[in-house]
Amino acid sequence: MDRFCRKVGYLRVSVTDRCDFRCTYCMAEKMQFLPRRDLLSLEELDRLCSAFIDLGVTKLRVTGGEPLVRRDVMQFFRRLSRHLDSGALRELTLTTNGSQLARHAADLAACGVRRVNVSLDTLNPEKFASLTRRGQLAPVLEGIRAARDAGLRVKINTVALKGFTEEELFPLVDWCGAEGHDLTFIEVMPMGQSAVEERLDQFWPLSDLRARLAMRYSLTDMAETTGGPARYVRLAETGQKIGFITPLSHSFCESCNRVRLSCTGELFTCLGQEGSSDLRGVLRESDDAAALKTAIRAGIGLKPAGHDFDYSRQTVAGAMRRTMNHTGG
Ligand code: GTP
Ligand code: 5AD
Ligand code: SF4
Repeated sequence: MDRFCRKVGYLRVSVTDRCDFRCTYCMAEKMQFLPRRDLLSLEELDRLCSAFIDLGVTKLRVTGGEPLVRRDVMQFFRRLSRHLDSGALRELTLTTNGSQLARHAADLAACGVRRVNVSLDTLNPEKFASLTRRGQLAPVLEGIRAARDAGLRVKINTVALKGFTEEELFPLVDWCGAEGHDLTFIEVMPMGQSAVEERLDQFWPLSDLRARLAMRYSLTDMAETTGGPARYVRLAETGQKIGFITPLSHSFCESCNRVRLSCTGELFTCLGQEGSSDLRGVLRESDDAAALKTAIRAGIGLKPAGHDFDYSRQTVAGAMRRTMNHTGG
């Protein structure tokens, strides 16, 4: 529990800051990644995750960067799956850009992963290449198919971008409907070392996206939540469920249930605040799990009330220098 009586049961673990894409809203084209020697080993990440699970974390999401570009990442999933077998962990999952998913989908399913979130902003190959700067659409679609064939549920995450997503909206909704994927839209957040002012021009409030959706579909608000930030609507015509994550237009921090661990062992208790606690030092000082748990409790005690992102005065307020690939979103 944090000092606002929020129960933290969800840990997002970034296993690498590296990525094979360079999405324009996430990182610079010439991104400087961390030296490999700074990363925690998979054994160290496992020790950390296990301490969180002992303390009551029941949902663990592996992120990056792109988690599937880390060598031996499947070994990490395999080891973590013991916590599913014991019943301590209710869900083990990942957020991926899908580029390597075709290779790993069956193994992920074998490790007890049941759902996967795939970031996908367009179904147009040219636009995909330009937005991700070096990604290709075809392998991502292949990865998504492989995931479904392996029995994984797929949720598509789409960042809403003004001047871009308007044209992608109906193709994405129709495709997700036909393929049986869940779909969630996310408001673009002001994160990153460069060009954060661009976010203001990129920002397409989800209220506007929703209004466009309502031109074609009848939307009904759903009471249901997954404990996460998304709010859902049902499309009457197709029965689809669409999620909206609105950090800018409607904050959800009062019910935040998550913390983030970076690949160097920093504990971030808020996506939109600078503070972090170093767990790597404690981890490397001794094998004592008790010391680690004390450090985790202390870190969670510092969880702030919420982020300060704000575009409402036509300037970017509350921006974060940290890029999204550092904490995995
Ligand atoms: P499920 O509900 O389990 O499907 O996942 P999720 O929505 O927690 O995870 P996902 O990786 O799909 O999150 C989608 C995106 O929502 C993240 O990458 C972030 O961009 C945004 N998001 C998630 N959690 C937070 C949060 O605590 N604060 C803010 N501001 N944004 C968040
Ligand atoms: N604002 C909102 N979402 C972002 N993501 C990356 N950068 C941003 C940003 N600036 C999303 C990705 C992915 C998730 C991990 O974070 O699209 O779905
Ligand atoms: Fe890579 Fe995800 Fe960032 Fe795109 S949003 S560059 S896929 S980490």
